[in-house]
Amino acid sequence: MAVEWAGSGPELLITIDRDSAVGLRTQLENQLRDAIRGGRLASDERLPSSRELARALRLSRGLVQDCYAQLQAEGYLTSRAGSATRVAAATAPRTDAPPAPSPPVTRPRHAIADFRSGVPDLGLMPREDWAWAIREVCRTSPNSAFDYGDPLGEQSLRDVLAAYLRRVRAVAATGDRLVICAGMAQALGLVLQALAADGIGTVAFEDPGPGTSTPRLAAAAGMTAVPVAVDEDGIDVAALDRSGARAVLVTPAHQWPTGVVLAGHRRQEMIAWARRCGGVIIEDDYDAEFRYDRDPVGSLQGLAPDCVISLGTVSKSLAPALRLGWIVAPPRLLGALAEGKRLADRGSPGLDQLALATLIESGRYDRHLRRMRAEYATRRVTLIDALSRHAPGLRVTGLAAGFHAVLHLPAGTDENALIDEARRRGVGLYGMAALRHSGGTAPPQLVLGFGDTGKRAIEAGIAAVADLLGPDS
Ligand SMILES: Cc1ncc(COP(=O)(O)O)c(C=O)c1O
Repeated sequence: MAVEWAGSGPELLITIDRDSAVGLRTQLENQLRDAIRGGRLASDERLPSSRELARALRLSRGLVQDCYAQLQAEGYLTSRAGSATRVAAATAPRTDAPPAPSPPVTRPRHAIADFRSGVPDLGLMPREDWAWAIREVCRTSPNSAFDYGDPLGEQSLRDVLAAYLRRVRAVAATGDRLVICAGMAQALGLVLQALAADGIGTVAFEDPGPGTSTPRLAAAAGMTAVPVAVDEDGIDVAALDRSGARAVLVTPAHQWPTGVVLAGHRRQEMIAWARRCGGVIIEDDYDAEFRYDRDPVGSLQGLAPDCVISLGTVSKSLAPALRLGWIVAPPRLLGALAEGKRLADRGSPGLDQLALATLIESGRYDRHLRRMRAEYATRRVTLIDALSRHAPGLRVTGLAAGFHAVLHLPAGTDENALIDEARRRGVGLYGMAALRHSGGTAPPQLVLGFGDTGKRAIEAGIAAVADLLGPDS
């Protein structure tokens, strides 16, 4: 699409070399021709007036007018009396046109319901509150807020978040121990790099768990990643001990994807393991914001800040698009984390950080979480109810927190065939096999996300696949 410029003339990057043997007019003509043929100037795009361009390039206006006239004659430009000179709609054949952009990535559409996990309700993102917070920041911040910031993050957000995490998650946090980053994904990458630099060569991860993302991040940091099994009490700490890893990534509050909560005895065993081997526990405080029918479980980091690094994100509480997350780290790692962050991107976007601080301080963040907790709680009931009517007898687990559950299918069910058939019917279902390190399909299970799936879709989606969930399907 052509850019319409309002007010003063459009910016146009043309460089004139006064020492060149090539004449000034030829230089200008060639560059405009190249810009049009190469696609830098699109069809119908308005050019600066000859007066503006002449002034900007310190050329005579007559020279620019001659140049425009020549390109008009060649069919590259058009001009009508009284209106601006524009790039002609059908320009000469482009010999060096850029490759056509690849088609936008579209998620498969599911006409009835999509039970994908890991996303909150995108339609309930508190847009007004976010817009208010951004406006407040722009209105009230000093000019220095628009400068490069501290790569560790805006101090005000680090302080506000530290207080929030102390209050809500019993994290042992102070602002100077926090690093703000682009979501949990960047947080984990930076932590693994820092641990590798500290001499840790192997990191364990939960199985089932994050699929290939953690092994790939570990490889990028020069580490080896090993899977350790999860049972109904969480990660098997004896197996962790045998694995030889000196770091482990866990989701204690609501294990991804089984939904189990790390049992009290396992928490103690894991901390003892870390202290024994000089190891590090990386706690992804996943889904901690949304708890239902159990006592609140504080963060593991609060129990052992010396050997636990806590990672958090707003991807579930607000929206993944904000790309805001944090690390609470022991002081000895802060230097390496700051260096990694500086090298990666010189710090996360400052205004967004200040907006998040404003949102939390104003109480609007808490209010949003309260609303969403109530919303997800009703969806959870809708799901349990739909399953009890349409798939009676099947076990549903992992519902203590968050917005996904595990449905245990009858033994012998072909998980992949069921998913394929559901997709044909307009229902997006997702299996556990893809999240097991072995890729094994037994026991057959579905991971049912309901964060971005409304109550009506939950009911209709389960009804549409009910016959596939029975023992004889
Ligand atoms: C286990 C787990 N933790 C955290 C996240 C959030 O990651 P991010 O903050 O990079 O969006 C995800 C995203 O899907 C996840 O699967």
